[in-house]
Amino acid sequence: MSASNDSQILSGKPVAQAILEQVRSQVLALKGRPPCVVFIRVGNDPASVSYVKQKQEKATWVGIKSILKVFDANGIDEAGLLQEIQKLNQDSSVDGILVQAPLPNSMDFAKIASAIQPEKDVDGFGVINCGRLQQNLPCIVPCTPAGIIELLKFYHISTVGKHVVIVNRSMIVGQPLATLLLKNTPQGNATVTICHSKTEYLQAVTREADILILACGKPAFFDRSFVKEGAVVIDVGISRVPSDNERGYRLQGDADSQSLKGYVAGYTPVPGGVGPMTVAMLMKNTLNCYHLCQLHS
Ligand code: GUN
Repeated sequence: MSASNDSQILSGKPVAQAILEQVRSQVLALKGRPPCVVFIRVGNDPASVSYVKQKQEKATWVGIKSILKVFDANGIDEAGLLQEIQKLNQDSSVDGILVQAPLPNSMDFAKIASAIQPEKDVDGFGVINCGRLQQNLPCIVPCTPAGIIELLKFYHISTVGKHVVIVNRSMIVGQPLATLLLKNTPQGNATVTICHSKTEYLQAVTREADILILACGKPAFFDRSFVKEGAVVIDVGISRVPSDNERGYRLQGDADSQSLKGYVAGYTPVPGGVGPMTVAMLMKNTLNCYHLCQLHS
């Protein structure tokens, strides 16, 4: 076997598909109206437009109703968005609310996320779900971290006793993922390091990782000089870089996959790695929120 065949490509597609099929059959078996999720997008960030579209497509496929509310970045302020969320919180036909990040700088994403009723918080970013995650209580787990855990499980990549280094400290990825990996569970029990923009000797730290999780939006920045031989690399980064194809861009992860090929044990492709997992876990969360809303009605 040539060296370039030695690294396993950890595709998210079959894992996501299995989850979507499970959600689809559970939705099909429900009595009464289907679950309903509302997506809120402020502005026209091209990546956000694309992500929300993918979420809506998968919602349709699994039988979840989705509604998209788009606001002009200049046409709504934080108070207005909070009012919209209040209306949706009170609407018993809505089971899930998702505000796509990033929001305009004038808005506080954490504050907006926490305005969503916890039972409808499909992203799990609100203060109640975050706190419940920290305290090991039942909660809605953020989709990307939950998806990464499922991906590692599917490919039998054990985290127990392993050093996991995460290059991201956000409430969307780094913090909840660290919490999950630290739990005393079969998919946890890792030793976790979080790196960020002020981390000194980044390369020395990432080279210590048995499992390296990249989510800092630096296209192809992490070549093999940042990685220990035989490590597993999970690439959450997804940047648009100029390309002479018909779209004018291509998607590029934080990892330089050409450099990693044949050197690491495995890595997730971009696209087709973590991205599909995030969307699949969102569908699972939406179904969970539907059940929570039924209990609370
Ligand atoms: N922006 C990037 N990732 C996410 C996500 O998982 N949820 C939301 N709401 N916005 C995002």
